[in-house]
Amino acid sequence: MRLLVCGGAGFIGSTFARLRVLEHGDEVTVYDKLTYAGREENLRELAGTPGFTFVKGAIEDEAAVDAALECSGAEAIVNFAAETHVDRSIAEPDAFVRTHALGTYVLLEAARERGLRYLQVSTDEVYGSIEVGTFTEQSPLAPSSPYSATKAGADLLVASYFHTYGLPTVICRGSNNYGPYQYPEKLIPLMVLNALHGDALPVYGDGMQVRNWIHARDFSRAIGHVLEHGEAGEVYNAGGPDEEANIAVVERIVELTGADRAQIEHVTDRPGHDRRYSLSSEKVRALGWEPEVRFEQGLAETVAWYRENEDWWGPIRSGSYRAYYERQYGRALQG
Ligand code: NAD
Ligand code: TYD
Repeated sequence: MRLLVCGGAGFIGSTFARLRVLEHGDEVTVYDKLTYAGREENLRELAGTPGFTFVKGAIEDEAAVDAALECSGAEAIVNFAAETHVDRSIAEPDAFVRTHALGTYVLLEAARERGLRYLQVSTDEVYGSIEVGTFTEQSPLAPSSPYSATKAGADLLVASYFHTYGLPTVICRGSNNYGPYQYPEKLIPLMVLNALHGDALPVYGDGMQVRNWIHARDFSRAIGHVLEHGEAGEVYNAGGPDEEANIAVVERIVELTGADRAQIEHVTDRPGHDRRYSLSSEKVRALGWEPEVRFEQGLAETVAWYRENEDWWGPIRSGSYRAYYERQYGRALQG
């Protein structure tokens, strides 16, 4: 397949690009605005590989999207491009509205003009929080943060292009991803790097919030599977095989890094914090996908990757991330 992968310089998009180019022989053009979270280094393993191209641009920029589509000759658009951190959406929601609403609209119009298949990458957070049981594709959308609300809005717009114009769209909603190349604002890489540097490990509230963890490689496999085998107009959930309370994840990271348990600090909770996410993946399993990586093994491998890849995270942790950290946590990083 020839694919335009929007947001492909981010954590999951770059994992997907590697998978599709190196293991499926797809021709991939990554189209990415390179926000703080988008990094060409995430694509370093693809540099110089035949069939791989990088184009810098924003999804809300109609002319640049048209140019990228013409150059790539793409048969399908896979849209990962998003602002993705809930805490940033609470502090500054504007970019979330622009990228998720306007950006998704521009991509849908470009797909409609050319009759391209369109896959929207989405999240379990659009369903809101669930105390018991699991969300299915039929569960109502009840997002709680500006991040999840604007992601839900984008999903509804995508669905409208199928119903109104017959555009062959599919939506794939993942649970919490982890793995190499995740920007260290997110729980797991933040805790791993803080643990390794002797910094405090800031657990929000009681730490008993539960997340359903999926390895980014498994989510990327699911997205590829839905792109190839999913039915137009449908939504497919891809949840990980394991659920874990945040505090248990942090305690395991303390063990894996050899940090001091006393580094764990309970801090003020996130406003509107969702208590639990859980996704049923029966529908995508029926298409033949299943997750391969259990959390215990995947977390250990991820910690090992961060230990071995200081050349990747060093420039991030010594740059503007430090100012973000201080704003968000009210204290400077020590290490
Ligand atoms: P990320 O923040 O690591 O990467 C996002 C990428 O999008 C970056 O490369 C950024 O430069 C790019 N981008 C942002 N705004 C853009 C714009 N206007 N135009 C072009 N590019 C732009 O995020 P991620 O964790 O890789 O998430 C990718 C997708 O997967 C998102 O749509 C997210 O909602 C979804 N998702 C993430 C998770 C998770 O746990 N991380 C779980 C389920 C779904
Ligand atoms: P995060 O990685 O931000 O993902 P999401 O909010 O999309 O689930 O957070 C995962 C969980 O970890 C969430 O319940 C919030 C919590 N958390 C902390 O306790 N401390 C932190 O410093 C961060 C970043 C997250």
